[in-house]
Amino acid sequence: MNLIQFQRLAILAQDIFITRLVHRPVVDSTNNLAIELSKDDNPDGLVVIADKQTGGRGRRGNEWCSPEGNLYMSVVFSPSLRVSNNIVENSLIQLITLMSGVAIVDAVDNLTGIKVSLKWPNDLIIEDKKVGGILTESRYHASSIKYLVIGIGVNITDRAFPPSIVNRAISLSQFTNNTISRDELVFEILKSLDKWYRIFKEQEVDEIKGKIINQWKNYNCTIGRRVRVISDVRTITGTAIDIANSGDLIVQAEDGNVFSITSGSLEFL
Ligand code: BTN
Repeated sequence: MNLIQFQRLAILAQDIFITRLVHRPVVDSTNNLAIELSKDDNPDGLVVIADKQTGGRGRRGNEWCSPEGNLYMSVVFSPSLRVSNNIVENSLIQLITLMSGVAIVDAVDNLTGIKVSLKWPNDLIIEDKKVGGILTESRYHASSIKYLVIGIGVNITDRAFPPSIVNRAISLSQFTNNTISRDELVFEILKSLDKWYRIFKEQEVDEIKGKIINQWKNYNCTIGRRVRVISDVRTITGTAIDIANSGDLIVQAEDGNVFSITSGSLEFL
């Protein structure tokens, strides 16, 4: 990111949730740096952007292939929540991940007109292939969440995927003849996240759950699909039938039993 773009971003920061902006040409992982920088002060609103990562991390210990040309960003939220019905902390993390997915879909659409869809819980999908992902990590103080780091990766220009993911990955540039600017996409995503984060701060979590889940369902490519879900406790093959207001995936197994899954990974069959 050049100085002019960084200054533009700093100006945008004055109007939105950003409190601190960090850009590095190379990091191991923007999530790692965000966690490191969040140790001392109140980290709410910290944004870390890198041009490339040497140790990009995906969910469940997967590597996130991170050459130059794509978007790697981590956003730190430390919301003081107006919680009426004691939201379970896990479902807060889930809700923020789903909210971020919705924000990214809107941002990509606004900038490029490309329609990305959402695969539960955190995949950004085009034509059943992964164009991006979200890794939300949390740190606790005593037993409540101190902050959340939302790590966002979007494939923009990467056409040379490693053989291990070449059949499952795709980039935005494959869907337009126009050049997509990483910095413009950063702008759009931050503006879009700001819209939702404001709602989070102003309304009770119970009130906004429905809004996030409804919008997520509008963008989803999961419900109605035959799936295999691997959760911490079981593997289920069946049909994804709904997303609950908590963010849980509801799956009907082949034997007819219905399960509500809070966290896990999902494969389309
Ligand atoms: C996934 O789909 O498994 C999540 C991928 C998340 C990748 C992003 S890139 C920016 C941030 N830093 C990381 O190390 N990971 C996330």
